Amino acid sequence: MHTKQESNPKTTLMLQINHANPEPEKIQIATQIIQNGGLVAFPTETVYGLGANALNSNTILALFKTKNRPMDNPPILHIADNSQVYLLAKEVPKNAEILMKKFWPGPLTLIFKRSNTIPKETVANLDTVAIRIPKHNIALSLIKQSGTPLAAPSANLSGKPSPTTAQHVYNDLNGKIDAILDGGSTNIGLESTVLDLSADPPLLLRPGATTFEDIQAVLPNVIMHPIINYKQNIEIKHARSPGMLHKHYAPNAEMLLIDGAVQDIISKITALSEQYTHEGKKIGILATDETQKAYAITNTIKSMGSRLNLNTIAKNLFKELRDFNESPVDIILAESVPLDGIGLAVMNRLQKASNYKIIKA
Ligand code: TXA
Ligand code: MG
Repeated sequence: MHTKQESNPKTTLMLQINHANPEPEKIQIATQIIQNGGLVAFPTETVYGLGANALNSNTILALFKTKNRPMDNPPILHIADNSQVYLLAKEVPKNAEILMKKFWPGPLTLIFKRSNTIPKETVANLDTVAIRIPKHNIALSLIKQSGTPLAAPSANLSGKPSPTTAQHVYNDLNGKIDAILDGGSTNIGLESTVLDLSADPPLLLRPGATTFEDIQAVLPNVIMHPIINYKQNIEIKHARSPGMLHKHYAPNAEMLLIDGAVQDIISKITALSEQYTHEGKKIGILATDETQKAYAITNTIKSMGSRLNLNTIAKNLFKELRDFNESPVDIILAESVPLDGIGLAVMNRLQKASNYKIIKA
């Protein structure tokens, strides 16, 4: 490698912290770092975020650089109290107030027209801003103590799966950030739902644990961005959410997503794994509890969890994708799951991880 080593890598402080009742002295250490313009990774109910003072443009530039994140992809602003929205948004539509009341704190990010109090670096020059209140005591304590909204993209290197443990954060960012608050594994395991309320009708940009059905029950006119429903083979020229077009979640090996009825998926994966093995390739299979025994044990087989519980699959997915990087596989054959509820979000991440290489079973 010709890349110059960074001359003075940071020492990244790893702090174990109680997730239900975070120790005030540990929150205090993290708060000091945030207030001094540093970067602190912390758990939320979805994935770990990399927190920075959203109102400090220098810190925000450092945040982008640290993650290696494209400058056109703004972070979500994390707040602790509904009242903070009125300072950050130019207008708060009635729809938003209903959703805030029903789903905050929780895994729902809302896009508003933004106020001018936010530095343009923080919003990548857009005239909108993404905001959410996380449902996690460590995150909430840190935001409250810091006294500022925290910009917090997922705490991974750009392109990697989002981190669901402090160890994942450490693996990607050790030496580049100031501290990691280790509050254990995150509960949901996929990033928050992103809903654009600056659009009319409201537009789902990223599916998550607050499901499309949940939102539809409140806003019957909500629509899904076409890229979320991968079955429509469309070309996206101008993405509404910048993150939509960037490479995501990719394991090192090439990944193919096999879609269809379960029995057909098993047959297709079996046939493909035989074919690729014959070509001298090492095969990984991303399966489920119910199907994993159907495959030849010469493959590296990992289960996302039971098909009867899509929440578990959501929780495990990014860990399994990361774990494949520890195995010598050339191609990963991944099973699809049903699109109901959080299944839509799981499938969206699987589609992205496969770079939309989807095979009909
Ligand atoms: O669950 C989560 O949302 C996690 C935790 C840490 O809160 N955060 C997270 O952040 O996933 P990030 O930065 O990895 O993803 C933010 C997404 C990106 O797809 C980005 O393009 C989109 O939100 N986004 C941010 N600001 C936007 C805006 N003004 N308009 C449209 N999309 C926006
Ligand atoms: Mg991310």
